[in-house]
Amino acid sequence: MGKDVIVACDFAGKEQCLEFLDKFTDCKPFVKIGMELFYSAGPDIVKEIKARGHKIFLDLKLHDIPNTVMKSMAVLSNLDVDMTNLHAAGTKAMMEAALKGLTREDGTRPILIAVTQLTSTSEEAMKEDLLINAPIDEVVMHYAENAKAAGLDGVVCSPLEAGKVHNRCGENFVTVTPGVRFADGDVGDQKRVTTPEKAKELGSDYIVVGRPITAAEDPVAAYKRCVAEFVG
Ligand code: C5P
Repeated sequence: MGKDVIVACDFAGKEQCLEFLDKFTDCKPFVKIGMELFYSAGPDIVKEIKARGHKIFLDLKLHDIPNTVMKSMAVLSNLDVDMTNLHAAGTKAMMEAALKGLTREDGTRPILIAVTQLTSTSEEAMKEDLLINAPIDEVVMHYAENAKAAGLDGVVCSPLEAGKVHNRCGENFVTVTPGVRFADGDVGDQKRVTTPEKAKELGSDYIVVGRPITAAEDPVAAYKRCVAEFVG
């Protein structure tokens, strides 16, 4: 699995996002488009960024009945994204349906990964709100195994969990990990963070980096620093 840095383009609208991407004149980062940008700018923003030559991770975290997810994934696949995701909590049947919808007529498809438990969900909330009584680590690993059994390519997880996920699900099972900060940078609202270098050591396949790049004085230099530390 080739390692790469994915830039989380968490902007409120199309103009801010394109203005940011205009700064990258000599490289084309892998871009993550999340709900905020997608809901404000619509599918056209995906086509426009794709046409500029970027790879795209469309982070919409689908979770619905299998038939609805299958049909929605077919639409996302036609947008020609490179990676997309869903909630493993939607069950194996939903993940299998998603994979079917995502697969194009020629057999190709975007990488499909699953969110296990959101990192914003505490073990306490899981027990009290969701009535899930197993330890959160076990739930994360169980959901990762479900994703693998359903034929998915990997999961979103903390870099700190990447090694364990690989041990359980194999070295080729992709780990996409947010929560990355430079050793000398602001942590912001992320709780358990690692540096790009440490994420590499821990076995992450892709790191998702937002504010350390988007809010940097020189975003291109910050991106290149990430690549240098993570990819080498
Ligand atoms: O700005 P920052 O580097 O914290 O951005 C991280 C990105 O990864 C954001 O788009 C955030 O929504 C996403 N993310 C995360 N933790 C998860 C899943 C996604 O931070 N567990």
